[in-house]
Amino acid sequence: MCGIVGVLGRHEVSPIILDALKRLEYRGYDSAGIATIHMGALDRRRAVGKLINLSDLMVHEPLRGRSGIGHTRWATHGGPSVANAHPHRAGRVAVVHNGIIENFRALRAELAEKGASFTSETDTETIVQLASHYLDEGLTPVQAARATLKRLDGAFALAFLFEGEEDLIICARRGSPLCIGHGEGEMYLGSDAIALSEMTNRITYLEEGDWAILTRNGVQIFDAEDHQTARPLTQINAAQARVDKSGHRHFMAKEMAEQPAILQSAMASYSGVGEGGIDLPEGLDFARADRLIMVACGTAYYACQVAKYWFEQFAGLPVELDIASEFRYRAPVLGPENVAIFVSQSGETADTLAALRHVKPHVAQVVSVVNVPTSSIARESDMVLPIHAGPEIGVASTKAFTAQLQVLALLALRAGRARGKLTPEEYAARLDELRAAPGFIAQALDREDEIRRLTEILAKARDVLFLGRGVMFPLALEGALKLKEISYIHAEAYAAGELKHGPIALIDKDLPVIVLAPHDALFEKTVSNMQEVMARQGKVLLISDAKGLREAGEVPYSLQMPTVPDIIAPMVYAVPAQLIAYHTALHRGTDVDQPRNLAKSVTVE
Ligand code: G6P
Repeated sequence: MCGIVGVLGRHEVSPIILDALKRLEYRGYDSAGIATIHMGALDRRRAVGKLINLSDLMVHEPLRGRSGIGHTRWATHGGPSVANAHPHRAGRVAVVHNGIIENFRALRAELAEKGASFTSETDTETIVQLASHYLDEGLTPVQAARATLKRLDGAFALAFLFEGEEDLIICARRGSPLCIGHGEGEMYLGSDAIALSEMTNRITYLEEGDWAILTRNGVQIFDAEDHQTARPLTQINAAQARVDKSGHRHFMAKEMAEQPAILQSAMASYSGVGEGGIDLPEGLDFARADRLIMVACGTAYYACQVAKYWFEQFAGLPVELDIASEFRYRAPVLGPENVAIFVSQSGETADTLAALRHVKPHVAQVVSVVNVPTSSIARESDMVLPIHAGPEIGVASTKAFTAQLQVLALLALRAGRARGKLTPEEYAARLDELRAAPGFIAQALDREDEIRRLTEILAKARDVLFLGRGVMFPLALEGALKLKEISYIHAEAYAAGELKHGPIALIDKDLPVIVLAPHDALFEKTVSNMQEVMARQGKVLLISDAKGLREAGEVPYSLQMPTVPDIIAPMVYAVPAQLIAYHTALHRGTDVDQPRNLAKSVTVE
């Protein structure tokens, strides 16, 4: 949430910063801004809305300078406006900030009393006013930044730029991610390595509490106690970091299309000499576990909800599952034989990370399933299982979901073996089924034209209801989430059996009801619920396989999926859920990759 970047360059930095912000725009697009130092003077440009508005502004009002900082904003304190846009400035200091300063009200009151006059409603402005105040008291930039950092409560990543200092950026990380990029006579900072991928592949990740002094010659890093410290330099894979739409109209379209290839290569990366030809991290101990705790947010949470069925079914392992923002404010009962699994595409979601930190001292193992192996969640886990989905830029998560499901399925099967609930033959058979997922997902993607036609009706709806049972219930939730996120149509999902306990009151001839029901053990029951909808003139779209569609009889609308083994049905049925949302959004002309109010990486609570 919010992306920050900083460059100490050998040439003009505005174009470089704009380019880096483009790759961070997934983090927020309420406003954007850049500050630079030119001939010693600090200047800035800011614009509301997407980055393109800032680029347009800078065509007419260019910003010169070889040192600068930039920001793309997802509004927290204060609405999207130029006054609230970063970089914030007071006196000789400019700041870009990702996160929330929790004690900003107290600081603001204190500074106002000392005569500071505020020009925005943001928490960030208190940082810059504080730093400016310390400079006025005679502190050097480094001393002023350090003194300021000591006064801040909350979670943040930030960068300071000082007037008159052409070779200095000070940055700090507490709670929000931040990395340093090493160039040739240039230095960079960014919220993630992707932001810096066009400039360098040599990255140092700051640790929690670190702050750093950047000059063109290098970086000095200090820990939370102000001791100078060394952090490893890592080489990131440039191909992995490259981000483009590869000819697709949207990132979301590209990312949906990538799913078969990603699942195939992810499976290959887990292939090895372990049981059934699968290698999972050594030390993963499900045999002694008495309970599994699964925590995530958003789409990752729905992946966990599917996995709960698998862990119970294949491994007989009790699963406690919660949304991270709820879990951390309960008093969850934790035990030394519990294994905790955290699932996160970005690996930076603030609530998931906080839940991890809360759980870690009390459980046997902390396992994370992430797409970004260098992320905070990955780095703070005992064991990391990457999903190998590559950068996901579309705000609506698609390929990360199916890739998370694949890794969670592998884990559940391994747990089943470790606990003696699956025979070697059953284990091998389920693995073979998993290996077939990419082909079936490709078949589901082939139904795109049909789905496009079906969504002409959905695009006119005011509300849409999704129904499913068993593993199809979380899929229904995911379908409703996708539709809400990118088409702005109100959508709800219910466990089909729960329909009669309220939502059936909503059904009339204008309500499209999407029923996800492969011909599995629960099919008959789901179809009965579907009949109840049809008896009340609800406009049903049944998504099922050949046998299901045959047995269901006449339905207003139907969509045929391939006939698939139970274990891969969630991955295959994710595809129509995604494509329905995508094409409905296209009909409605909404912004698919950057839907309003959303951000890809939620690094604030
Ligand atoms: C945001 C994104 C969702 C994502 C959720 C959790 O809401 O828009 O797509 O599912 O955060 O993110 P994570 O990175 O932890 O999976």
